[in-house]
Amino acid sequence: MKGFRCTECGHRASKWLGRCPECQSWNSLLPDETGTAMVARGLGAGSSEPVPFDEIDTSQASRVRTGISEFDRVLGGGVVPGSLVLIGGDPGIGKSTLLLQVAARMAGKPGRVLYVSGEESQSQVRLRGDRLDIHSAGLLLLPETSLQKILESVERTQASCLVVDSIQTTYSETLPSAPGSLAQVRETAARLLFLAKSSGVAVFVIGHVTKEGTLAGPRALEHIVDTVLYFEGERHHDHRILRTTKNRFGPTNELGVFRMTAAGLEPVPDASRLFLGERKGRSPGSVVLPTIEGTRPILVEVQALAGGEARSQGRRVAQGFDPGRLALLVAVLERETGMLLSGRDIYVNVAGGVQIQDPASDLAVLSALASSLRGVAVPASHVVFGEVGLTGEVRPVARARERLAEAGRLGFRHAVMPAGGRALEPDPARTEVSDLGEALQALLGAPEPR
Ligand code: TYD
Ligand code: MG
Repeated sequence: MKGFRCTECGHRASKWLGRCPECQSWNSLLPDETGTAMVARGLGAGSSEPVPFDEIDTSQASRVRTGISEFDRVLGGGVVPGSLVLIGGDPGIGKSTLLLQVAARMAGKPGRVLYVSGEESQSQVRLRGDRLDIHSAGLLLLPETSLQKILESVERTQASCLVVDSIQTTYSETLPSAPGSLAQVRETAARLLFLAKSSGVAVFVIGHVTKEGTLAGPRALEHIVDTVLYFEGERHHDHRILRTTKNRFGPTNELGVFRMTAAGLEPVPDASRLFLGERKGRSPGSVVLPTIEGTRPILVEVQALAGGEARSQGRRVAQGFDPGRLALLVAVLERETGMLLSGRDIYVNVAGGVQIQDPASDLAVLSALASSLRGVAVPASHVVFGEVGLTGEVRPVARARERLAEAGRLGFRHAVMPAGGRALEPDPARTEVSDLGEALQALLGAPEPR
């Protein structure tokens, strides 16, 4: 389509307007050439002749391990040459630190690595590198914000890996809008994608999350890049969680756990032990859930607090858990137990800052809530998992065997879990339940008569 395009937000219009109807910026509409230019440059990496399937060269797809185990894990087993990876997260969470460590490890495997910083000077990056104890002859630093100069530099240095820190500070000279605007971020990503696909350079792009919690520009890039990694959780812990939300070369939802030390980010292979480390024995409202994150089982503590006097409208706060799902589970619990919960304040927290999307967390959340409401602790040797339906039925979930094995490894001796799975090893012991009432009976005993 020929027409006009807003250089701030990318909105398209068929005729010129003084003010963009989408983002309300003035004089931001220009003739839309970027769209066609992108198509022309497009993904025509290599030739545009069709190639027989069997003859396609897959040697480029062989992965390069960085040796930073948790980073290799979230990528699906290592860095894929010619891939474009976006790393997002709050300012100060550790993006530059991690990528500098990755860059140093990538140097010489084979080829040189170009680390471009648009935010820090060479000496600042060097100082950070000294803290990380980096000595790498194949690592080149470039303080630069111009996309054209960055691309020239990749060409000149013949780098096989490029880190762009960050996408918000990089701008293309061909566009008039400011660095960080949607048009700039898109153009930068499109050019970097072309670089990756046409030359096999592995490209990492860092993107900041804005205060509102959205990756303003980078969110718009998720469909362009091959892989998206987000730092999740809070900064207050000394551990950091890196989550794969998209991956063309591996499983999504994979989770990498690191500890921030004085010498940079250190992989934590035993995530369960880390997350349960803060657990204070046996108290009402605490339940251990064996969840599956990506390809591995991890034990996390689910905490719930049902407090306060009943008011007309209770508060619902969920951290690490979907608030909509919590509202639904509260309604199920209300019906199951006959307790009036709508006016009570209800808080649910997944300890350690992990975001849980596993449906098996339903039963753990409900058990923690019921435990808090009744003031009765769940036995310390128990883990709980299962999906819960609207009528209170407990449904089987995937990969029960791995969940049990992880619980057993960390010394838990009993699981309350859905009935109807395949036969499993006897250890840990199990109570198989088919509805919420049975589960609560097994965990908390019979309720006091009403
Ligand atoms: P940084 O990687 O600059 O975060 P981002 O690029 O995501 O904005 O650094 C994050 C924080 O980590 C910073 O406050 C300092 C701290 N830090 C350490 O604790 N140890 C280290 O070795 C380094 C390099 C940083
Ligand atoms: Mg940074």
